[in-house]
Amino acid sequence: MEDWEKVVNDLRAKHQATGQMSNINLVGNKSGEDISRQMQEDAMREAREKRKTAAIQKLPKRFQATTLDSIRAQGIPKNKSVAQNWQYICQYTDHLAEHLKAGRGIILAGGFGTMKTTLAVAVLRKYIDGGGWGVMVTMASLIDKIYSMRNTDASEAAAYETEIREAKLLVIDDLGAEDNHFAWVLAKVDSIISSRYDNRLATIITTNYSPDDLSQTYGGRLIDRIKSNCFYLPFVGVSERKPLDLSMI
Ligand SMILES: Nc1ncnc2c1ncn2[C@@H]1O[C@H](COP(=O)(O)OP(=O)(O)OP(=O)(O)O)[C@@H](O)[C@H]1O
Ligand SMILES: [Mg+2]
Repeated sequence: MEDWEKVVNDLRAKHQATGQMSNINLVGNKSGEDISRQMQEDAMREAREKRKTAAIQKLPKRFQATTLDSIRAQGIPKNKSVAQNWQYICQYTDHLAEHLKAGRGIILAGGFGTMKTTLAVAVLRKYIDGGGWGVMVTMASLIDKIYSMRNTDASEAAAYETEIREAKLLVIDDLGAEDNHFAWVLAKVDSIISSRYDNRLATIITTNYSPDDLSQTYGGRLIDRIKSNCFYLPFVGVSERKPLDLSMI
């Protein structure tokens, strides 16, 4: 996203302009080299925090506070497949750096309300909290956005697409929920996922589609790629969403 060097340089200039250099001098009695290192570390820390806040703000509001800890605190549902997949998600995040380096993602597939998006976001948050740059897109809105931007601002559309193609970690939420009756939509999905596969960039996908639905819709060629670099986690059972309690009305 941002030019890392530029962020650091801007912050360094800001430190100099606000005279923080002399403050550091007074406090630490440090050499010029120590001061410069400290300023650089401060600037890097500040830039990392900014980057993390920006990445979290890009998540849908409902999921901005979703982390592995928040899921654990709320309690893991009894549903066998959810409980089992929760264990897999924890294991995957324990080795996150290794999996991302190899471009290995996850596909969470199954019934609605079974915590697929929640778990996918929690993995993304773990990456963001560790200083990584990751993005989540909901399939339907991705296609809407690309389509509407095309007609208004082609360069904005291209920049948006590049961000999605190049994010170190991408969560594609609700694959199959987009209007995939158009050939250009299928071609776009194929091209985004295939280019990430070619560049060994990990993708986490959630979908209500079964493996057969996916193959029929997107073609065996694409699904073969997804299968070879995404751990497949099937979710079965009833929705974990609860109806609103009328006592709250
Ligand atoms: N420990 C928990 N942490 C977070 N959500 C939980 C937890 N236990 C149960 N839930 C419930 O799970 C519900 C469904 O989660 P989520 O939206 O991730 O499902 P989904 O599988 O993505 O559904 P869909 O296929 O409809 O998109 C949430 O609305 C929440 O109420
Ligand atoms: Mg979902």
